[in-house]
Amino acid sequence: MEKVSLTPGGLEVSPLVAGVMKWGVWGADLDRNAMQSLVSEAAELGFTTIDHADIYGNYTTEAAFGAAIADLGSAFRGQLQLISKCGIRMVTKNRPNNRLKAYLTSKEYIIQSVETSLNNLGTDYLDLLLIHRPDLLMEPHEVAEAANELKTAGKILHFGVSNFTPSQFNLLNKHTTLVTNQVECSPLHPEPMLDGTFDQLALQHARPMVWSPFGGGKYFNEENSAARRLRQTVLEIDEKYNSPGEDVILLSWLLRHPAGIVPILGTSKIERLRSATNALNVNLDSQDWYAILEAARGREVA
Ligand SMILES: NC(=O)c1ccc[n+]([C@@H]2O[C@H](COP(=O)([O-])OP(=O)(O)OC[C@H]3O[C@@H](n4cnc5c(N)ncnc54)[C@H](OP(=O)(O)O)[C@@H]3O)[C@@H](O)[C@H]2O)c1
Repeated sequence: MEKVSLTPGGLEVSPLVAGVMKWGVWGADLDRNAMQSLVSEAAELGFTTIDHADIYGNYTTEAAFGAAIADLGSAFRGQLQLISKCGIRMVTKNRPNNRLKAYLTSKEYIIQSVETSLNNLGTDYLDLLLIHRPDLLMEPHEVAEAANELKTAGKILHFGVSNFTPSQFNLLNKHTTLVTNQVECSPLHPEPMLDGTFDQLALQHARPMVWSPFGGGKYFNEENSAARRLRQTVLEIDEKYNSPGEDVILLSWLLRHPAGIVPILGTSKIERLRSATNALNVNLDSQDWYAILEAARGREVA
C-alpha cells in the first residue's frame, strides 16, 4: 500500500490504519506471540500505521503492544508510525486517582501521559499524538505549549485532535499546528460529511482519520434494521464490482470521498486486514455511492 500524507509534505501514514483498541483485553485479548505475529504480518501488508490510545484495555494495551514489538527490533519500530492519544481519564483500578470519567488537557497531564505511553510502547517517540476528546475546560495556549515542548524534545513528531468540532479544531489550530481530526464516520454515521467537519479539514489541507468504518461491528449486526437495509444494498453493489467483499465496498465508500479519508480498522484478524487492502483498487460509481448512503439513512437525498 502506498502511503499518503496527512498534510502536504507532512506525516506519511498507511492509507488504511490498524486500530488496536480491541487487540488487548477490550477484545481479542491476544497474547504476546499472537500480537507480535499480527503486527508484523499487518506491516508486511502495508498497515504500518498503528492507532493506539493510552486508555485502550483500561490503560494496558500500549504495554502489551510494546512487549509484542520489543523483540522485533528498532528497525521494525522505524517502519511503523505509532499514533497515541491522551486526555480521557477513565475509572479503572489501574488509575485509582480517577474518581469519574472526565477529560483533562493540562500541560502537565499531557506531558505525563506521553511519557507513560512512550514507556509502555518501548519507544522514544510517537509519530502522532492526538487529544482524544475535546476537553470543555481546555486552555488552548496550554495544550499548544505541551505539544510544542514535546515536539522540541523529539517525543512527538506531529500533533492533532480527535472528535473535535470544526470550531474547536480552528481554535486550537490558531495556537499550534494540527495535522488531523480523527472522527467516527461510516454509512451508518455520515455526520462528518454533512456537518462541516470534513470541509473544514479540506480548507486546512489536512486529511481526516476515521474510526469505526464498520460502525464498530454494528454493520454486521442482523438485529439492527439500518444495518440490515444497508447490507442488502452493499451486497448487491459488491456483486456488480465482481465480489471483492462487503468490507471492501464499505471501505471504498469512505475512500471515494474527496476529503481523503484515512480509515482505521478495528479487526484483530489478519485475513480481514488482507481483504481490506482490495478497497484501494475499487472506484465506486457516484450513483452506487449514493445508493449506499440512501440505504443507510433509509431515505433518498432531498
Ligand atoms: N478516536 C476515537 O475516539 C476512537 C473511538 C473508537 C475507535 N477508535 C480507533 O478506531 C479503531 C477501529 O474502531 P472499531 O473497532 O470501532 O472499528 P470497526 O472496524 O468499525 O469495527 C471492528 C469490529 O467489527 C468487526 N468486524 C470487522 N470486519 C468484520 C467482518 N468482515 N465480518 C464481521 N465482523 C467484522 C470486528 O470483529 P473482528 O475483530 O472479529 O474482526 C470488530 O469487532 C479502533 O481500534 C481505534 O484504534 C478511535
